[in-house]
Amino acid sequence: MSISKKSIQQVLETAQIEDVVGEFVHLKKSGPRLKGLCPFHNEKTPSFTVTPSHNMFKCFGCGVGGDSVTFLKEHEKFTFIESIEWLAQKYGITLEKVVYSDEQQQKYKEEESLYIVNDFAQAYFVKQLNDTEEGRNIALQYFKERGYRDDIIEKFGLGYTSSAKDGFIQVAINKGFKLESLKQLGLVSSSSGNDFFRNRVMFPIKSISGKVIAFAGRIMGQNKKAPKYINSPETEIYLKSKVVYGIYEAKKAIRKEDECLLVEGYTDVISLHQNGIENVVASSGTALTIQQLQLIKRNTPNLKIIYDGDAAGVNAALRGLDLALEQDLNVKIVMLPDGDDPDSFIKKVGATVFRTFIEEKADDFIFFKLRLLEADADTPVKKTAMIKDIISSIGRIPDPLKRNLYIKECAQRLQVDEQILIGETNKAVKEVLIQQQKETARIERAAQQERAKKRAESGLPHDPSLPLEPPPFFEEGEPAPMDGGFPREAAKTVSPKHNHEREIIRVLMQHGDQQLKTEEMSVAQYVIEKIGSYFDEFEHKDYKAMALYCRELVKKGKPVNFKQLASHEEDVFREIALDFGMPKWSISPNWEKKGIPLRTQPDIEQNFRQDAMKEVKYLMLAWLKKVSKQNMEKYKDLDVEDSESMMKYLKIHTKIQEAETALAKELNQVIL
Ligand code: CTP
Ligand code: MN
Repeated sequence: MSISKKSIQQVLETAQIEDVVGEFVHLKKSGPRLKGLCPFHNEKTPSFTVTPSHNMFKCFGCGVGGDSVTFLKEHEKFTFIESIEWLAQKYGITLEKVVYSDEQQQKYKEEESLYIVNDFAQAYFVKQLNDTEEGRNIALQYFKERGYRDDIIEKFGLGYTSSAKDGFIQVAINKGFKLESLKQLGLVSSSSGNDFFRNRVMFPIKSISGKVIAFAGRIMGQNKKAPKYINSPETEIYLKSKVVYGIYEAKKAIRKEDECLLVEGYTDVISLHQNGIENVVASSGTALTIQQLQLIKRNTPNLKIIYDGDAAGVNAALRGLDLALEQDLNVKIVMLPDGDDPDSFIKKVGATVFRTFIEEKADDFIFFKLRLLEADADTPVKKTAMIKDIISSIGRIPDPLKRNLYIKECAQRLQVDEQILIGETNKAVKEVLIQQQKETARIERAAQQERAKKRAESGLPHDPSLPLEPPPFFEEGEPAPMDGGFPREAAKTVSPKHNHEREIIRVLMQHGDQQLKTEEMSVAQYVIEKIGSYFDEFEHKDYKAMALYCRELVKKGKPVNFKQLASHEEDVFREIALDFGMPKWSISPNWEKKGIPLRTQPDIEQNFRQDAMKEVKYLMLAWLKKVSKQNMEKYKDLDVEDSESMMKYLKIHTKIQEAETALAKELNQVIL
């Protein structure tokens, strides 16, 4: 049996990309599109775009893009058929099945995914719990003693497996599953060859879309030798570092409450659900990873961590949380009373008191740390170490405004001069940024290699929307590259000092009226919006006049292009325009050589290429950096008495920095 072509067609026509992606990524409307944090790479500002009118998604950071099926295949690791089935279920479409030949059937069977095996195991554990005497007497009884309601047991798919050596393996093999698949999923112990899970109550671990990807089992009865909990090993479909327990059951509530509670254990999650608190996930007793934090952040920026009230809890609280700060999550901490975990505490006091407690006792992470350390800092040496510790945490917060608030508060509470704290924090920020940049570069390289490998395997050419090489970036004083269509004559007469200015003018002349698809404006509009307010800082007289003139054109809603300016009455404008000539660098000559299919001519002419835009952004950023440096130099030369001028330069400086940061953000770059 397989799905008919007609049904597949129907599903593909019905699926709306924004609904599908919206199940996994928190999307915000942005013009005719939606934006969110890319689930395929680590990013802090959204470059992941969903375009309902095209029914496509695309990440401008990492390059992944496609339709609903591509998304599910990439994100959920579904096969094509699994994606279609998932979509059909979502949209309530009944799939028409067709019967294929034996040969085709065989092939389909081989494609049977690991998920099907896990689903089978899951059903088996549930059956063992409810339909066997042993399950009812031991496991169900245990759940009841813990106070679990039937609906909760069902909601979390809890199960049981007996202490028999190979009860599960036998049933599975009888059903026609291959031993190999069971091994692949860690359902068979690699050492003994018996059932991996024995004499345990079972907690299925689900992906964000609700697929069973692994299991955790808690031992029944007393056995000092065996660990209390065991988990499926890592498999093709289970990467521990990417999963938090309960995310599927919690994601709706997390978005609704705009907050995610994080607890330690499986039983904590379940107990809170039973008491109507559903925005909760568990780290399963390990330190948080970046991917787990990202998973949370895609649903909300607000994270409240509830720690058990014991010494281990306190230490855990301080561990790994700097990572959460780096992800720009708003982290709050709640410590429960001594000896309690969320499960025991809510049982003791009930839902209302629990809610009030975590509301009132929630402490901001930085202040929490401050309080903890403060209590311990009774000598100057200890105090210094403590300040360093706090500063290093504050230095990880990407938002400068937030950092400032913390510094102010800490300066007051610690009775330390604010300026000193600011200075120290800036040092820490730099250090963190350098580390992060290295890390980002490493991840990016790895991802690029991975993509290249995949492409090579698939036999597809390089994705033309991605730059082949890093964007060109020339140093101060170095002559501009010649392949940009810049005529030699003019190059001789312009000092390399004005490279950036000249290139900006060239972009305006050659590409000014081309449209940017994502930004939905012309290149000229974009350039003016980003850096137009600083055109007065141009040093080259003619370029400055030209830049200011272009700015006027844009303000008046007129196009900026070669034709307009080449027939201008002012000699200078005409000359510059003619110097730059017609656009020459829309298509890299390398593409044709490398056999990359070129897009249709009208598309290239009307839409500015994405990678070319990246180059322009780098150019603008480089120029801003230069202007900002010059401005600071002028500022330093000022007479200290001349406070009016000093204010003026400082203001300009702040504004330029803002523009720099905005551009750097778009380029996914961090600036120091
Ligand atoms: N854990 C684990 N392996 C262990 C012990 C603990 O993976 N050997 C993880 C589990 O995710 C567990 C969490 O750490 O839920 C917290 O551990 P603990 O407090 O010991 O367990 P509880 O969740 O309180 O479980 P129970 O109440 O059933 O004892
Ligand atoms: Mn417990």
